[in-house]
Amino acid sequence: MAVHFCNNSLELENLLQHISPDEVFTITDDNCNTYCLPELIASKTLSIHNTFTFPSGEKNKCLATYENAIDFLAKKNLSRKGTIINIGGGVTTDLGGFVAASYKRGVRFIHIPTSLMAMVDASHGGKVGINHKELKNYIGSFSQPDCILIYPGFLKTLPEVELLSGYAEVLKHGIIADKSYWEYTKTLNPFDISATDWLSIIQQSIDIKMAIVEADPLEANERKKLNFGHTVGHAFESLLLKQNASISHGHAVAAGMIVESAIAHRINKLPLHEQNDITHHISKLYDKLPIYHTDIPQLITLMSYDKKNPQKGIEMALPNNIGQCDYNISVETDVIEACLIQYMS
Ligand SMILES: NC(=O)c1ccc[n+]([C@@H]2O[C@H](COP(=O)([O-])OP(=O)(O)OC[C@H]3O[C@@H](n4cnc5c(N)ncnc54)[C@H](O)[C@@H]3O)[C@@H](O)[C@H]2O)c1
Ligand SMILES: [Zn+2]
Repeated sequence: MAVHFCNNSLELENLLQHISPDEVFTITDDNCNTYCLPELIASKTLSIHNTFTFPSGEKNKCLATYENAIDFLAKKNLSRKGTIINIGGGVTTDLGGFVAASYKRGVRFIHIPTSLMAMVDASHGGKVGINHKELKNYIGSFSQPDCILIYPGFLKTLPEVELLSGYAEVLKHGIIADKSYWEYTKTLNPFDISATDWLSIIQQSIDIKMAIVEADPLEANERKKLNFGHTVGHAFESLLLKQNASISHGHAVAAGMIVESAIAHRINKLPLHEQNDITHHISKLYDKLPIYHTDIPQLITLMSYDKKNPQKGIEMALPNNIGQCDYNISVETDVIEACLIQYMS
């Protein structure tokens, strides 16, 4: 599966025309329809008539949108030889990828990620799917796109809060796999990064993620490292979604990394100065989440629902040192509670 980098929209257009098969359908959300699609529609590869547009937002990564997308493709009679191009953030690549993987038992698809989150993370690794009520990514499959086209120019219209969301995964990649990458990203202001630096960041993050995914595509072992910050982060995300105070995925993961670093230190894995380094740097960039003591029982329940857990107990991926991560670490609930309280204080 190839990843192509494009420096300008012309290159992107040329690439699309080169790979474009006859029957192309596009899946996108309303924001990307406004900000990103016009760059491509001119190429004549994509047609507005064959574009399924859904309302943006995590809550729409759901069965109802999935059904509407399938209805759209069925009415327009997309054949099994057709191709779906998903243009958007991680919600679009997850949802559109799952639509493509399951429509008529699967059609070819291409991802054109437009958010930082989708460029460095969501569009790579083959996981596609949708949420089931408040349970994140409960319905889905592993399915690879034919290729991924990356054009960092799309980041120009991405709201700052979304840029910060993707940056949390960038920071995670350094913490779990590459200390020098962590040190480098610490020196950058995510709101003031040159185009050349973006290319290098996106490339390094993809390299780290793909080296891990290629060693363990179906997440039996090694790939679990990528879940650092996510056991607690997904619980935060689900809780706040339920309370209609939804936050970005990356913001939840950033908070999750603070709590999970504290857990890693408490169970004698991560040295205190490295826990402090992680906490200090993440807290500088991300506001504290509105989580309260009364939420703790529900958060623990949500963590134990996590589909990556064995039948009993809560397991996490935790760093031993910055740049090195372990997985399948069983964590007692009293340790999680203590670290949640520490985060709130
Ligand atoms: N499959 C995976 O391996 C994987 C990995 C990480 C995250 N994810 C999933 O990705 C999702 C989060 O991704 P996300 O943060 O990109 O969310 P998103 O797709 O909702 O995009 C965030 C917001 O930015 C807007 N947007 C995107 N690109 C834009 C652009 N260029 N200009 C203007 N607005 C733009 C979107 O419309 C949306 O409002 C979650 O559902 C998460 O579970 C999946
Ligand atoms: Zn994530």
